Amino acid sequence: MTASHPTPPTADPDWWRSAVVYQVYVRSFADANGDGVGDLPGIRQRLPYLRDLGVDALWLTPFYTSPMVDGGYDVADYRDVDPSFGTLADFEAMVGDAHALGLRIIVDLVPNHTSSAHPWFVAALAAGPGSPERARYLFAEGRGEHGEEPPNDWESIFGGPAWTRVADGQWYLHLFDPAQPDLDWRHPEVRAEFEEILRFWLDRGVDGFRIDVAHGMIKAAGLPDVGFSTMTTGRRQVELLGKGRLPYFDQDEVHEIYRAWRPILDSYPGGRMAVAEAWAETPQRLARYIGPDELHQAFSFDFLDATWSAESFRKVIDTALAEATIVGAPTTWVLSNHDKQRHVTRYGDGPDGLRRARAAALLMLALPGCAYLYQGEELGLPEVLDLPDELRQDPAFRRTGESRDGCRVPIPWSGDLPPYGFGPAGCESSWLPAPATWAALSVAAQLGVPDSTLELYRDALRIRRAHPALAAEGGITWLDTEPGVLAFSRSAGDTELTCVVNISGAPIPVSGYGEPAVASEPLAAASGGHLLPVDSAAWFERR
Ligand code: NOJ
Repeated sequence: MTASHPTPPTADPDWWRSAVVYQVYVRSFADANGDGVGDLPGIRQRLPYLRDLGVDALWLTPFYTSPMVDGGYDVADYRDVDPSFGTLADFEAMVGDAHALGLRIIVDLVPNHTSSAHPWFVAALAAGPGSPERARYLFAEGRGEHGEEPPNDWESIFGGPAWTRVADGQWYLHLFDPAQPDLDWRHPEVRAEFEEILRFWLDRGVDGFRIDVAHGMIKAAGLPDVGFSTMTTGRRQVELLGKGRLPYFDQDEVHEIYRAWRPILDSYPGGRMAVAEAWAETPQRLARYIGPDELHQAFSFDFLDATWSAESFRKVIDTALAEATIVGAPTTWVLSNHDKQRHVTRYGDGPDGLRRARAAALLMLALPGCAYLYQGEELGLPEVLDLPDELRQDPAFRRTGESRDGCRVPIPWSGDLPPYGFGPAGCESSWLPAPATWAALSVAAQLGVPDSTLELYRDALRIRRAHPALAAEGGITWLDTEPGVLAFSRSAGDTELTCVVNISGAPIPVSGYGEPAVASEPLAAASGGHLLPVDSAAWFERR
């Protein structure tokens, strides 16, 4: 072990069950050295902001050595920090400060694929067909008379075939970009290597891992065709993600990997956890990733796709709670992340979208389980829809025309002009430009301003932490309401907290649930209670 900070902030090994985790997209959070790219020292400087916001943990997207073809999800060295993000010493200093402030650190592990710049892949290309070096990846002969067709019909999630041919005629599999070759997880060296990588970061004090493409590591034996492709039907295979069966996802054997990882996590003190980015055909199959001998959580992504309607939210919540009951694990909730359009924009953009996003935050934060926030949602940031094409960096953009860059624009911290204090004084640009309209959304512009979105999040997180009914584990009780209104309560002993969300299109009178604790819009007094405005939410408490 190096000079590290392996001591977690509290001894509670179950901290993750009801935590609020803040996702830091490292390139876009805070830039300490002024090169326009966020970095670990930048995060370190802003830790007090996150402590004051009231979150329990940070999830950092990959900061390892990488050519950055897919924003760091193409890792060339799993045991070092990319120079654009700092050094290993910077990482250790950041973990030390985070722990001292009571914040935990979750890092992103990318085991499905490496970067094509990883020494293993470089060696595989050099060594040629049939070599032990190639055996760590999925190389295969092509079809057709001269092997000129890919080995099967699998498609990349980023569009186009999932196979690329190399100079000697063989093909290799990449479920994502060609610069992200898939590893062969049936190879013992691959398994051993990642177990060591887990230990490497655990030794440096990390409190958990977010497992990238956790459902993807094992491919069906014989690499069978899916049976349809965009080329023949216009229907993309990726549309089956989370809805159907694909030979390259959610294979039973993948669970062996997690059963080997869990004892490693459990051998460290303080509750080291792992959350799966997994997609499976049914809630039952997703639940198989979670449990005392596998991973601690799997993201429940349905919120990310739910539309602004009471019916769709109710369905998402009921499904996620039922999923969690299957395995006795807490739910996870996610409104936004670095892969999806920000929810302000999903809910209609502009003032309507923001108003709804604020209500959705109160809905999510009142639910039991663990909530994942995506950086900038506490500021009410919208998706940036008008980034010039030439500045877009998402590799999917070139292949499909779809791009995730709009939710990855650097955070506005202060000031009137882009990049709004993202870098040190005098730093005039950021790797993606922030819109000229974001001055009022900056942290400095919102901090201490009653009714700002930042203060709404701070209030809600403070109450969530302190209120016995919200701290308690367990389910929710849905209350009878008129159509378009969601209301549920949670209780602990004599205390009760009720969350009411009004999606009905007209203001509604609310009474009988106690005093308002926090509201996403100002409440007017009504006879015997309050009037909850359109597209808003409030918490009421009884003690
Ligand atoms: C899921 C990550 O969230 C996404 O950003 C990335 O492109 C893919 N996995 C590939 O690693």
